[in-house]
Amino acid sequence: MTPLLLALLSTASAASLWVPTTPQTPKPYAIKNGHGLPLGGGNTFPVTGNSSGGAFCILNTNAAGSFSVSPGLFPHVHRKTYENFYAVKGRVQLWGQNVDSFRANTSIQTTRVLSQGDIGAIPPNTIHTFTLLEPDTQLTGVLVPGGFEEFFFAMAVNPNPGAGGLPGAGGFDMEGLAKWDVYPELAFTARRDVVNGKAGPGNWYDGPNALPGNMDAPIWVAKNYGPKWLSEEGGRYQIVAPFVRGVETNGTFSQGTITISEQRGPVGKVKSEVATAFMLEEGELEVRVEGFDAVRLVWGDVVFVPGGVGFEYEAKAQFTKFMYVTGGGKGLDWELIQKGRTWNSAFFPRGQSGGRMMRI
Ligand SMILES: *[C@@H]1O[C@H](CO)[C@@H](O)[C@H](O)[C@H]1NC(C)=O
Ligand SMILES: *[C@@H]1O[C@H](CO)[C@@H](O)[C@H](O)[C@H]1NC(C)=O
Ligand SMILES: *[C@@H]1O[C@H](CO)[C@@H](O)[C@H](O)[C@H]1NC(C)=O
Repeated sequence: MTPLLLALLSTASAASLWVPTTPQTPKPYAIKNGHGLPLGGGNTFPVTGNSSGGAFCILNTNAAGSFSVSPGLFPHVHRKTYENFYAVKGRVQLWGQNVDSFRANTSIQTTRVLSQGDIGAIPPNTIHTFTLLEPDTQLTGVLVPGGFEEFFFAMAVNPNPGAGGLPGAGGFDMEGLAKWDVYPELAFTARRDVVNGKAGPGNWYDGPNALPGNMDAPIWVAKNYGPKWLSEEGGRYQIVAPFVRGVETNGTFSQGTITISEQRGPVGKVKSEVATAFMLEEGELEVRVEGFDAVRLVWGDVVFVPGGVGFEYEAKAQFTKFMYVTGGGKGLDWELIQKGRTWNSAFFPRGQSGGRMMRI
Protein backbone atom coordinates (compact mmCIF):
# COMPACT_ATOMS: atom_id res chain seq x y z
CA MET A 1 0.00 0.00 0.00
CA THR A 2 1.28 3.48 -0.72
CA PRO A 3 2.05 5.73 2.25
CA LEU A 4 -0.66 8.12 1.07
CA LEU A 5 -3.32 5.42 1.16
CA LEU A 6 -2.15 4.29 4.59
CA ALA A 7 -2.41 7.85 5.86
CA LEU A 8 -5.93 8.18 4.45
CA LEU A 9 -7.01 4.92 6.04
CA SER A 10 -5.63 5.85 9.45
CA THR A 11 -7.47 9.17 9.50
CA ALA A 12 -10.65 7.61 8.16
CA SER A 13 -11.04 4.99 10.86
CA ALA A 14 -10.11 5.77 14.44
CA ALA A 15 -11.37 3.35 17.06
CA SER A 16 -15.04 3.21 18.01
CA LEU A 17 -15.81 4.70 21.41
CA TRP A 18 -18.92 2.52 21.85
CA VAL A 19 -18.62 -0.56 24.01
CA PRO A 20 -21.31 -3.26 24.46
CA THR A 21 -20.81 -3.41 28.22
CA THR A 22 -18.82 -1.71 30.99
CA PRO A 23 -15.05 -2.28 30.57
CA GLN A 24 -13.11 -3.95 33.39
CA THR A 25 -10.16 -1.55 33.11
CA PRO A 26 -10.13 2.25 32.78
CA LYS A 27 -10.32 3.56 29.21
CA PRO A 28 -12.44 6.09 27.30
CA TYR A 29 -15.81 4.64 26.26
CA ALA A 30 -19.44 5.34 25.41
CA ILE A 31 -22.26 3.04 26.41
CA LYS A 32 -25.91 3.08 25.30
CA ASN A 33 -28.77 3.74 27.69
CA GLY A 34 -29.70 0.58 29.62
CA HIS A 35 -26.42 -1.19 28.88
CA GLY A 36 -23.63 -1.79 31.36
CA LEU A 37 -22.70 -4.42 33.88
CA PRO A 38 -26.05 -5.92 35.00
CA LEU A 39 -26.81 -6.81 38.62
CA GLY A 40 -30.37 -8.05 38.05
CA GLY A 41 -33.56 -6.44 39.33
CA GLY A 42 -33.30 -3.55 36.85
CA ASN A 43 -29.86 -2.51 38.11
CA THR A 44 -27.04 -1.74 35.67
CA PHE A 45 -23.64 -0.12 36.16
CA PRO A 46 -22.54 2.00 33.18
CA VAL A 47 -19.48 3.03 35.23
CA THR A 48 -17.78 0.89 37.90
CA GLY A 49 -14.74 1.22 40.13
CA ASN A 50 -12.93 -1.01 37.63
CA SER A 51 -13.94 1.03 34.58
CA SER A 52 -13.12 4.36 36.26
CA GLY A 53 -9.82 3.40 37.89
CA GLY A 54 -11.51 3.55 41.31
CA ALA A 55 -12.87 7.10 40.86
CA PHE A 56 -16.64 6.41 41.14
CA CYS A 57 -19.43 4.08 40.23
CA ILE A 58 -22.74 4.96 38.56
CA LEU A 59 -25.67 2.65 39.28
CA ASN A 60 -28.92 2.94 37.34
CA THR A 61 -31.93 1.36 39.00
CA ASN A 62 -34.95 1.09 36.70
CA ALA A 63 -37.75 -0.40 38.74
CA ALA A 64 -41.35 -0.09 39.80
CA GLY A 65 -41.98 1.62 43.09
CA SER A 66 -44.77 0.96 45.52
CA PHE A 67 -47.43 3.35 46.69
CA SER A 68 -46.39 2.88 50.29
CA VAL A 69 -44.01 5.39 51.76
CA SER A 70 -42.21 2.81 53.91
CA PRO A 71 -38.50 2.67 53.21
CA GLY A 72 -37.56 -0.38 51.14
CA LEU A 73 -34.33 -0.93 53.04
CA PHE A 74 -33.10 -0.79 56.64
CA PRO A 75 -31.52 2.57 57.64
CA HIS A 76 -27.73 2.45 57.46
CA VAL A 77 -24.53 4.47 57.33
CA HIS A 78 -21.42 4.31 55.16
CA ARG A 79 -18.29 5.54 56.90
CA LYS A 80 -16.17 5.94 53.79
CA THR A 81 -18.56 6.01 50.85
CA TYR A 82 -20.41 9.09 49.57
CA GLU A 83 -23.71 8.21 47.91
CA ASN A 84 -25.81 10.52 45.75
CA PHE A 85 -29.41 9.73 44.79
CA TYR A 86 -30.56 11.37 41.57
CA ALA A 87 -34.12 10.95 40.28
CA VAL A 88 -34.02 10.59 36.49
CA LYS A 89 -37.63 9.39 36.03
CA GLY A 90 -40.55 8.82 38.36
CA ARG A 91 -40.15 9.62 42.06
CA VAL A 92 -37.88 8.44 44.87
CA GLN A 93 -38.22 9.22 48.56
CA LEU A 94 -34.96 9.52 50.49
CA TRP A 95 -34.40 10.07 54.21
CA GLY A 96 -31.15 11.27 55.82
CA GLN A 97 -29.54 12.51 59.03
CA ASN A 98 -25.94 12.76 60.21
CA VAL A 99 -25.32 9.79 62.52
CA ASP A 100 -23.41 11.67 65.26
CA SER A 101 -25.99 14.42 65.64
CA PHE A 102 -28.77 11.82 65.42
CA ARG A 103 -27.27 9.96 68.38
CA ALA A 104 -26.69 13.22 70.29
CA ASN A 105 -30.22 14.38 69.39
CA THR A 106 -28.88 17.69 68.08
CA SER A 107 -30.15 17.58 64.50
CA ILE A 108 -33.48 17.03 62.77
CA GLN A 109 -34.13 14.23 60.31
CA THR A 110 -34.91 15.37 56.75
CA THR A 111 -36.70 13.60 53.93
CA ARG A 112 -37.59 14.66 50.39
CA VAL A 113 -39.64 13.20 47.58
CA LEU A 114 -37.27 13.51 44.62
CA SER A 115 -38.90 13.88 41.23
CA GLN A 116 -37.15 14.17 37.86
CA GLY A 117 -33.98 16.28 38.19
CA ASP A 118 -33.89 16.42 42.02
CA ILE A 119 -30.96 15.14 44.06
CA GLY A 120 -30.26 14.03 47.60
CA ALA A 121 -26.56 13.81 48.49
CA ILE A 122 -25.60 11.53 51.38
CA PRO A 123 -22.09 12.25 52.68
CA PRO A 124 -20.21 9.57 54.66
CA ASN A 125 -21.55 9.15 58.24
CA THR A 126 -25.10 10.02 57.20
CA ILE A 127 -27.93 7.62 58.08
CA HIS A 128 -30.10 7.01 55.03
CA THR A 129 -32.82 4.87 53.57
CA PHE A 130 -35.00 5.26 50.50
CA THR A 131 -37.89 3.92 48.49
CA LEU A 132 -39.03 4.14 44.87
CA LEU A 133 -42.55 5.56 44.42
CA GLU A 134 -43.70 5.21 40.80
CA PRO A 135 -44.20 2.35 38.31
CA ASP A 136 -41.48 3.68 35.95
CA THR A 137 -38.78 5.09 38.19
CA GLN A 138 -35.11 5.53 37.40
CA LEU A 139 -32.80 6.24 40.29
CA THR A 140 -29.22 7.02 39.30
CA GLY A 141 -26.84 6.48 42.18
CA VAL A 142 -23.30 7.81 42.26
CA LEU A 143 -21.04 6.07 44.79
CA VAL A 144 -17.59 7.42 45.61
CA PRO A 145 -15.00 6.01 45.67
CA GLY A 146 -15.75 3.36 43.06
CA GLY A 147 -15.70 -0.24 44.21
CA PHE A 148 -18.67 -0.11 46.60
CA GLU A 149 -20.59 -2.07 43.97
CA GLU A 150 -18.65 -5.20 44.96
CA PHE A 151 -21.05 -5.25 47.93
CA PHE A 152 -24.12 -5.45 45.65
CA PHE A 153 -22.60 -8.28 43.62
CA ALA A 154 -21.64 -10.15 46.81
CA MET A 155 -25.23 -9.69 48.08
CA ALA A 156 -26.66 -10.98 44.82
CA VAL A 157 -24.71 -14.22 45.35
CA ASN A 158 -25.28 -14.47 49.10
CA PRO A 159 -28.05 -12.17 50.39
CA ASN A 160 -27.45 -12.97 54.09
CA PRO A 161 -23.73 -12.94 54.77
CA GLY A 162 -22.47 -14.20 58.11
CA ALA A 163 -24.40 -16.06 60.75
CA GLY A 164 -27.08 -14.86 63.09
CA GLY A 165 -28.88 -11.95 61.58
CA LEU A 166 -30.22 -8.69 62.78
CA PRO A 167 -33.88 -8.08 63.60
CA GLY A 168 -35.43 -5.81 61.03
CA ALA A 169 -32.41 -6.06 58.76
CA GLY A 170 -33.58 -8.97 56.65
CA GLY A 171 -31.20 -11.44 58.27
CA PHE A 172 -28.12 -9.35 57.58
CA ASP A 173 -25.26 -9.81 59.99
CA MET A 174 -23.68 -6.64 61.40
CA GLU A 175 -20.08 -7.83 61.11
CA GLY A 176 -20.65 -9.29 57.67
CA LEU A 177 -21.81 -5.85 56.52
CA ALA A 178 -19.04 -3.75 58.11
CA LYS A 179 -16.43 -5.12 55.75
CA TRP A 180 -18.51 -3.65 52.91
CA ASP A 181 -18.76 -0.23 54.62
CA VAL A 182 -22.41 -0.81 55.54
CA TYR A 183 -23.45 -0.09 59.17
CA PRO A 184 -27.13 -0.58 60.07
CA GLU A 185 -28.62 2.15 62.29
CA LEU A 186 -31.84 0.47 63.34
CA ALA A 187 -32.72 3.03 66.04
CA PHE A 188 -33.53 5.47 63.21
CA THR A 189 -37.24 5.65 62.39
CA ALA A 190 -38.07 7.17 59.02
CA ARG A 191 -40.53 10.04 59.49
CA ARG A 192 -43.83 9.81 57.58
CA ASP A 193 -45.05 13.41 57.82
CA VAL A 194 -44.16 14.63 54.32
CA VAL A 195 -46.05 17.71 53.11
CA ASN A 196 -45.38 19.13 49.62
CA GLY A 197 -42.54 16.69 49.07
CA LYS A 198 -40.60 17.45 52.22
CA ALA A 199 -40.27 17.07 55.97
CA GLY A 200 -37.51 18.61 58.05
CA PRO A 201 -35.82 21.98 57.61
CA GLY A 202 -34.81 23.57 54.30
CA ASN A 203 -36.46 24.81 51.13
CA TRP A 204 -38.11 22.48 48.64
CA TYR A 205 -39.50 24.17 45.53
CA ASP A 206 -40.25 27.21 47.68
CA GLY A 207 -36.84 28.90 47.73
CA PRO A 208 -33.19 28.41 46.77
CA ASN A 209 -31.11 25.39 47.78
CA ALA A 210 -27.71 26.83 48.67
CA LEU A 211 -24.83 24.36 48.79
CA PRO A 212 -23.45 24.08 52.33
CA GLY A 213 -19.70 23.85 51.65
CA ASN A 214 -19.39 20.92 54.09
CA MET A 215 -20.42 17.29 54.63
CA ASP A 216 -22.30 17.74 57.92
CA ALA A 217 -25.81 16.82 56.74
CA PRO A 218 -27.70 15.49 53.71
CA ILE A 219 -27.71 17.97 50.82
CA TRP A 220 -30.98 18.47 48.94
CA VAL A 221 -31.17 20.28 45.62
CA ALA A 222 -34.47 20.62 43.77
CA LYS A 223 -34.12 20.83 39.99
CA ASN A 224 -32.85 24.33 39.04
CA TYR A 225 -33.09 25.63 42.64
CA GLY A 226 -29.36 25.24 43.35
CA PRO A 227 -26.61 27.73 42.48
CA LYS A 228 -25.74 28.18 38.79
CA TRP A 229 -22.93 29.65 36.73
CA LEU A 230 -22.91 30.76 33.10
CA SER A 231 -19.88 30.13 30.89
CA GLU A 232 -19.61 31.86 27.52
CA GLU A 233 -16.34 30.22 26.48
CA GLY A 234 -15.83 27.88 23.56
CA GLY A 235 -18.42 29.39 21.24
CA ARG A 236 -21.54 28.56 23.25
CA TYR A 237 -23.38 29.13 26.49
CA GLN A 238 -23.12 26.55 29.26
CA ILE A 239 -25.05 26.68 32.51
CA VAL A 240 -23.32 24.70 35.23
CA ALA A 241 -25.63 23.65 38.07
CA PRO A 242 -23.61 21.67 40.62
CA PHE A 243 -25.28 19.35 43.16
CA VAL A 244 -22.01 18.81 45.02
CA ARG A 245 -18.57 20.35 44.42
CA GLY A 246 -15.18 19.60 45.96
CA VAL A 247 -16.12 21.62 49.06
CA GLU A 248 -19.12 19.35 49.67
CA THR A 249 -17.09 16.13 49.08
CA ASN A 250 -13.69 16.85 50.65
CA GLY A 251 -12.31 17.06 47.11
CA THR A 252 -13.29 13.51 46.15
CA PHE A 253 -15.79 14.21 43.33
CA SER A 254 -18.34 16.60 41.93
CA GLN A 255 -21.74 16.08 40.30
CA GLY A 256 -24.30 18.33 38.64
CA THR A 257 -25.78 19.24 35.28
CA ILE A 258 -24.57 21.32 32.32
CA THR A 259 -27.05 22.85 29.89
CA ILE A 260 -25.59 23.87 26.52
CA SER A 261 -26.70 26.11 23.68
CA GLU A 262 -26.09 25.36 20.02
CA GLN A 263 -22.55 26.00 18.86
CA ARG A 264 -21.76 29.49 17.50
CA GLY A 265 -17.97 29.27 17.25
CA PRO A 266 -15.08 26.80 17.49
CA VAL A 267 -15.47 24.24 20.26
CA GLY A 268 -12.98 24.39 23.13
CA LYS A 269 -11.01 21.25 23.95
CA VAL A 270 -11.20 19.87 27.48
CA LYS A 271 -8.36 18.06 29.18
CA SER A 272 -9.16 17.36 32.76
CA GLU A 273 -6.78 15.87 35.31
CA VAL A 274 -9.61 13.82 36.76
CA ALA A 275 -12.07 11.34 35.27
CA THR A 276 -15.25 12.73 33.69
CA ALA A 277 -18.56 10.99 32.96
CA PHE A 278 -21.63 12.41 31.17
CA MET A 279 -25.14 11.01 31.07
CA LEU A 280 -27.38 12.70 28.51
CA GLU A 281 -30.72 14.10 29.73
CA GLU A 282 -32.03 16.36 26.97
CA GLY A 283 -31.21 17.11 23.33
CA GLU A 284 -28.30 15.48 21.51
CA LEU A 285 -24.60 15.73 22.27
CA GLU A 286 -21.64 14.92 20.06
CA VAL A 287 -18.51 13.88 21.96
CA ARG A 288 -15.09 13.58 20.35
CA VAL A 289 -12.42 11.83 22.42
CA GLU A 290 -8.77 11.88 21.28
CA GLY A 291 -8.04 8.78 19.21
CA PHE A 292 -11.71 7.76 18.78
CA ASP A 293 -14.50 8.37 16.29
CA ALA A 294 -17.07 10.97 17.33
CA VAL A 295 -20.19 9.63 19.06
CA ARG A 296 -23.64 11.16 19.33
CA LEU A 297 -25.41 10.66 22.62
CA VAL A 298 -29.18 10.57 23.10
CA TRP A 299 -31.13 10.28 26.34
CA GLY A 300 -29.48 8.01 28.91
CA ASP A 301 -26.29 7.31 26.95
CA VAL A 302 -23.11 7.59 29.03
CA VAL A 303 -19.57 8.63 28.09
CA PHE A 304 -16.60 8.02 30.37
CA VAL A 305 -13.22 9.74 29.87
CA PRO A 306 -10.26 9.00 32.19
CA GLY A 307 -8.17 11.91 33.52
CA GLY A 308 -5.49 13.23 31.16
CA VAL A 309 -7.39 12.33 27.95
CA GLY A 310 -8.46 15.25 25.76
CA PHE A 311 -12.04 15.51 24.51
CA GLU A 312 -14.57 17.94 23.03
CA TYR A 313 -18.32 18.04 23.22
CA GLU A 314 -20.88 19.94 21.20
CA ALA A 315 -24.66 20.30 21.45
CA LYS A 316 -26.42 19.13 18.29
CA ALA A 317 -29.77 20.35 19.57
CA GLN A 318 -30.67 23.60 21.27
CA PHE A 319 -30.85 23.23 25.07
CA THR A 320 -28.89 20.01 25.36
CA LYS A 321 -28.35 18.92 28.93
CA PHE A 322 -26.27 16.27 30.64
CA MET A 323 -25.59 15.10 34.15
CA TYR A 324 -21.87 15.00 34.91
CA VAL A 325 -19.71 13.29 37.49
CA THR A 326 -16.02 14.15 37.86
CA GLY A 327 -13.50 12.12 39.82
CA GLY A 328 -12.22 15.00 41.95
CA GLY A 329 -13.30 18.43 43.12
CA LYS A 330 -11.45 20.25 40.32
CA GLY A 331 -12.89 18.79 37.16
CA LEU A 332 -14.72 20.16 34.14
CA ASP A 333 -17.42 21.92 36.22
CA TRP A 334 -14.83 23.65 38.40
CA GLU A 335 -13.00 24.95 35.32
CA LEU A 336 -16.23 26.36 33.88
CA ILE A 337 -17.23 27.89 37.21
CA GLN A 338 -13.83 29.61 37.57
CA LYS A 339 -14.24 31.28 34.20
CA GLY A 340 -17.98 31.81 34.39
CA ARG A 341 -20.24 34.17 36.28
CA THR A 342 -23.07 33.48 38.68
CA TRP A 343 -26.38 33.07 36.95
CA ASN A 344 -29.93 32.95 38.26
CA SER A 345 -31.90 31.43 35.41
CA ALA A 346 -32.38 27.87 34.15
CA PHE A 347 -32.13 29.35 30.61
CA PHE A 348 -29.13 30.85 28.91
CA PRO A 349 -29.46 34.30 27.30
CA ARG A 350 -31.80 34.06 24.32
CA GLY A 351 -31.05 37.30 22.49
CA GLN A 352 -30.89 37.30 18.69
CA SER A 353 -27.16 37.77 18.43
CA GLY A 354 -26.11 35.69 21.39
CA GLY A 355 -26.71 37.12 24.88
CA ARG A 356 -24.08 39.85 24.91
CA MET A 357 -26.68 42.36 23.76
CA MET A 358 -28.80 41.43 26.73
CA ARG A 359 -26.06 42.16 29.25
CA ILE A 360 -26.83 45.56 30.65
C1 LIG B 1 -13.42 -5.69 39.31
O1 LIG B 1 -12.19 -6.30 39.01
C2 LIG B 1 -11.82 -7.35 39.94
C3 LIG B 1 -10.42 -7.79 39.56
O2 LIG B 1 -10.37 -8.18 38.25
C4 LIG B 1 -12.86 -8.45 39.85
O3 LIG B 1 -12.54 -9.46 40.81
C5 LIG B 1 -14.22 -7.89 40.18
O4 LIG B 1 -15.22 -8.88 40.02
C6 LIG B 1 -14.54 -6.72 39.27
N1 LIG B 1 -15.78 -6.11 39.73
C7 LIG B 1 -16.85 -5.91 38.97
C8 LIG B 1 -18.03 -5.28 39.64
O5 LIG B 1 -16.88 -6.19 37.79
C1 LIG C 1 -34.56 15.25 71.36
O1 LIG C 1 -34.66 16.65 71.33
C2 LIG C 1 -36.00 17.13 71.22
C3 LIG C 1 -36.01 18.64 71.03
O2 LIG C 1 -34.75 19.20 71.08
C4 LIG C 1 -36.79 16.71 72.42
O3 LIG C 1 -38.13 17.16 72.30
C5 LIG C 1 -36.76 15.18 72.53
O4 LIG C 1 -37.40 14.77 73.73
C6 LIG C 1 -35.31 14.69 72.54
N1 LIG C 1 -35.35 13.23 72.48
C7 LIG C 1 -34.65 12.47 73.32
C8 LIG C 1 -34.77 10.99 73.13
O5 LIG C 1 -33.93 12.93 74.18
C1 LIG D 1 -10.49 14.77 53.73
O1 LIG D 1 -9.46 14.26 52.93
C2 LIG D 1 -8.19 14.18 53.57
C3 LIG D 1 -7.22 13.61 52.57
O2 LIG D 1 -7.27 14.30 51.37
C4 LIG D 1 -8.28 13.29 54.79
O3 LIG D 1 -7.04 13.30 55.46
C5 LIG D 1 -9.38 13.78 55.71
O4 LIG D 1 -9.55 12.86 56.77
C6 LIG D 1 -10.69 13.90 54.95
N1 LIG D 1 -11.71 14.48 55.82
C7 LIG D 1 -12.91 13.93 55.96
C8 LIG D 1 -13.83 14.66 56.86
O5 LIG D 1 -13.24 12.92 55.39
